[in-house]
Amino acid sequence: MDRVPITVFDTTLRDGEQSPGCSMNVHEKLRMAYQLDRLGVDVIEAGFPIASDGDFEAVQAIASAVRRPIIAGLARACPKDIERAWEALKGAARPRIHVFLATSDIHLKYKLRISREQCLEQARESVRLAKSFCEDVEFSPEDATRTDRDYLCQVVQAVIDAGATTVNIPDTVGYTMPEEFAEIITMLRERVKGIEAITISVHCHNDLGLAVANTMAALGAGARQVECTINGIGERAGNASLEEIVMATRVRPDRYAYDMAVASEQLYPASQLLSEVTDVPVQPNKAIIGRNAFAHEAGIHQDGVLKNPLTYEIMTPASVGVPDSRLVLGKHSGRHALSLRCEQLGYHFERRELDEVYRRFVVLADQIKHVEDHHLLQLIREARPVAKRMPQHVEAVPPAVIAAAGGKSFHVPGPIERHPLEITLHSVHEHHGDQEDYLWGV
Ligand code: KIV
Ligand code: ZN
Repeated sequence: MDRVPITVFDTTLRDGEQSPGCSMNVHEKLRMAYQLDRLGVDVIEAGFPIASDGDFEAVQAIASAVRRPIIAGLARACPKDIERAWEALKGAARPRIHVFLATSDIHLKYKLRISREQCLEQARESVRLAKSFCEDVEFSPEDATRTDRDYLCQVVQAVIDAGATTVNIPDTVGYTMPEEFAEIITMLRERVKGIEAITISVHCHNDLGLAVANTMAALGAGARQVECTINGIGERAGNASLEEIVMATRVRPDRYAYDMAVASEQLYPASQLLSEVTDVPVQPNKAIIGRNAFAHEAGIHQDGVLKNPLTYEIMTPASVGVPDSRLVLGKHSGRHALSLRCEQLGYHFERRELDEVYRRFVVLADQIKHVEDHHLLQLIREARPVAKRMPQHVEAVPPAVIAAAGGKSFHVPGPIERHPLEITLHSVHEHHGDQEDYLWGV
């Protein structure tokens, strides 16, 4: 099947940066821009040059340092903004001026205090001005999904006639629904002359948690550019998450036959870097790149994943750059997962020894949420006679412990001395069937 190429427009450094606590300085934006380049996005929206001197410098620095992708700068629909944006962008190998102007009646009446006719004229004139500087001009009718449909068609027609090469349809307040958004894209394709010669883009906010679903629906209706951010950061509830859009197309090519030139194994590194530079953690259950996205705690799931990861994973951790699938050891875990983690820590147990470690593990897991590696090491110390306690491999620090520390070598303090744990032993029934982990995990 022929796959349709989609332009990936990353706005982490502009809309993403507008989310509370996510502002970045020039150096941090540059670090992110290099990673976005490695990730393979087609367009980096580097900032809003009129907003501050720092934003201007960041756009200028990225424009001169990152040469493969298109570098976009945002401007309101007025000469001062457009001139400032061009000033910041003109050193780019592939510059784009992105002009926006609200078009919904509520924005026209209360925010801009202009009539529909004035808005139409301002949109047209701004695109003309941007076009006099730069061949590549994108226009966004802000709050498009709450704009009167006939009027939206008129605005889109006017900006295409004035030279816009991309028209972006933003769901600025995260209000639309997938079917409705698809209808809007279809309507524009049917009613606006010359629209087939330009790129239709979509830009969805996540106020109702539908940003990715709306984006995917718009692709189905003919949009060919997606605007999105790493970790889904952005104004209020955020923007459509880049990693979710990309992986939806990778996991379900049967439904989404689109080609996005993104190196998916760079998704997790990009997410981690963003979290590091903004100091904003990723929610643990965030799809694709959250700490728990590939974690399995329930014994039934752990057993299945160990036998064949496809039982509970629809993509491999490696495909999105997550170093390893992690089995979370907690009270629902089974013997199979425990034994594997012990082996990763360098300990191989005979069945009877494993029973003893497992007996202690179950009791401890009942008392604390997650059994970490240092707890396990303590259990092993207590469960095994001294002579048999040495790890099978000779490293002072087992490789899995080094890996768990992000590759940094560190001394594992004696957990007994650090956190003495009171473990009361109860009797635990013995199960030794073929499906013991399946049954034990329930
Ligand atoms: O959400 C929005 O409408 C925007 C525009 C500037 C594209 O971010
Ligand atoms: Zn936005």
